[in-house]
Amino acid sequence: MAKISPSLLAADPACLGDAARLALRTGCDELHFDVMDGRFVPNLTFGPHILRGLARQVPFWYDVHLMLQRPLAFVEAFAQAGAGAITVHAEAEAFAQSLRAIRGLGLKAGASLRPGTPARCLLENLPLIDRVLLMTVEPGFGGQKLMPQVLDKARALREMGFAGEIAADGGINALNASEVVKAGVGVLIMGTAFFGAQDAAGVVRLVHAL
Ligand code: DX5
Ligand code: ZN
Repeated sequence: MAKISPSLLAADPACLGDAARLALRTGCDELHFDVMDGRFVPNLTFGPHILRGLARQVPFWYDVHLMLQRPLAFVEAFAQAGAGAITVHAEAEAFAQSLRAIRGLGLKAGASLRPGTPARCLLENLPLIDRVLLMTVEPGFGGQKLMPQVLDKARALREMGFAGEIAADGGINALNASEVVKAGVGVLIMGTAFFGAQDAAGVVRLVHAL
């Protein structure tokens, strides 16, 4: 059974509580919280105070995806705000130190790769990583098209001996979900395809059947 993690980036920003409750009610496994700094990616989203408010209203397992040039500066604030996992990019500053800091705060540590960054870049830090998040689009915006060639990295990670979870993020929908899971991905991040769906519960059932 694959897991589904809806990305709040695609929800109505004025009704994030309703969006989180929809994910809870439809049986989603966790929630994906995209954080951007206008520098690592050309966009801005949410800060820790938004997560704190949301997590108080809707207790859930929040996976915080930090698309920040300097993630270490915000790890503690997001941990205190209610994150269950924090994911940082291998291309960002102080990557290994950030992973250690996340684990040190008792959270799951995730490592994300831009589409053009090879899996082998994680080799020396594999023991610090609980989950790898493969970006299947260039990070920064929702609603883009999945880059299928990225999925080969799932097999490469297993060949490198990585035994943790592999997630994919960007452009995943009901039509390509099975291709993503067949490639070895166990956690599907879905923004547009979940929050834009007429039948969100049906999307969850479809993913859980994979
Ligand atoms: C993109 C974000 C993704 C995005 C996914 O930078 O990291 O989480 O919201 O949205 P969709 O599913 O619409 O591509
Ligand atoms: Zn994301």
